Amino acid sequence: VAAQQAEARGWHLYLVGGAVRDLLLADPEAALLLNDIDLVVDGYHRALQEGAGVELARALQQQYPQARLDIHGQFQTAALLWHKDPELDSLWVDIATARTEFYPYPAANPEVEASSIRQDLYRRDFTINALAIRLTAPRSGELLDFFGGLLDLRSRQIRVLHANSFIEDPTRIYRAVRFAVRLGFEIDPQTEGYIRHAIESGVYDRVQDENSRAPALQTRLKSELKYVLAAPYWQSALQLLSHLGALRCIHPTLTLTPALWHQIRLMSRWLRRFDSSNTLVHWQMLLEVLIADLAPEYRGKIAANLQLPVNSIEALQQLATTQADLASHLTKPQKPSQVVQLLSQYDRSTLILIAARSPRALRQLIWRYLICWAQVKPLLDGNDLKALGYKPSRQFKQILSDLTAATLDGVIGDRDSAIAFLA
Ligand code: CTP
Repeated sequence: VAAQQAEARGWHLYLVGGAVRDLLLADPEAALLLNDIDLVVDGYHRALQEGAGVELARALQQQYPQARLDIHGQFQTAALLWHKDPELDSLWVDIATARTEFYPYPAANPEVEASSIRQDLYRRDFTINALAIRLTAPRSGELLDFFGGLLDLRSRQIRVLHANSFIEDPTRIYRAVRFAVRLGFEIDPQTEGYIRHAIESGVYDRVQDENSRAPALQTRLKSELKYVLAAPYWQSALQLLSHLGALRCIHPTLTLTPALWHQIRLMSRWLRRFDSSNTLVHWQMLLEVLIADLAPEYRGKIAANLQLPVNSIEALQQLATTQADLASHLTKPQKPSQVVQLLSQYDRSTLILIAARSPRALRQLIWRYLICWAQVKPLLDGNDLKALGYKPSRQFKQILSDLTAATLDGVIGDRDSAIAFLA
């Protein structure tokens, strides 16, 4: 339908980006679910300021009123979202106008058509993402492969289109790693050289720079980090990022030492053990353990730059104090009730972060707290206290907490001993 709408206006429409790559990689026998589709319209269209992509999206939305339309006028792009069910399949279609000059003659002219879609594709990250399939007649279904993307798909290579790609957009370093690991491809040696060159020339300074361009870069870095750390292949991706020196984009001093790697693996194991229902944000906690490895004075700033939530920024800012506090109290022998009193001041995510960074003895105490002690309830409740003749009062809370402490410390073990304890 989109192609018909485009044809009716004398424009060309192309399927581009990840959908083309995934279609070409897909097993022809297997079903392929494309739920994120990028389309590019290429056509002569000076009259409308918003651009052809936006007009096409509006026309489609009239035909499919159930789709939500979002317009980003500034970039001449529009998105249509079919949202059937948050849990089930949804379809996201981005429609952009080919990023090129608008020529004062119709795009039916094949030279202009080829050059504008070519320019649009040339701006993209890797050859395998710079393929397009024409959806409009004539020659609909034709694959446009200006940069050898098909060959790279076959030989499983991640290759940039030009030497400056990573300098222009350092987040592409993270994208190279994620595609390499996700698809099981190799980063082509010359492309790896460009990555190393970009990093050596200090491209990461720009990511941390507080100038006007930096927030957009930080946002993109964060979304790439999220993508990588939330993926099933996050361990290989992190290793490859480290191998390329790309963790320096997070902070110039960040390196994946064996000690840090050990902490990351501990964190991941603890998250599986204590948060199997995913109430915590696991990718973010992996990022926190990376940031926690920086010197204390950098932690809060880097967490803020990466736009982590306020509680996470604060936990990282206070981490050194919290850790010192826990270490000084918990290295002396403590009764379980004292451990609970101390640890219950912190939330689960802070405790897991501290555990991942702590020596075995402290880790074991946090483990016992999370797995058992935090769940211990008083053996009697308010109704029992009333039945025993206590008048409801603020004192109830203290009595119940004393009962919990006595249970934790093994002073009482059942209701009878609890009643005797009160007497
Ligand atoms: N792109 C780019 N440079 C970036 C981000 C995106 O050139 N820094 C281009 C690529 O051509 C990419 C397209 O924009 O194919 C869409 O980006 P995105 O949706 O992030 O990636 P996909 O390739 O669709 O990958 P995925 O399947 O992971 O969504």
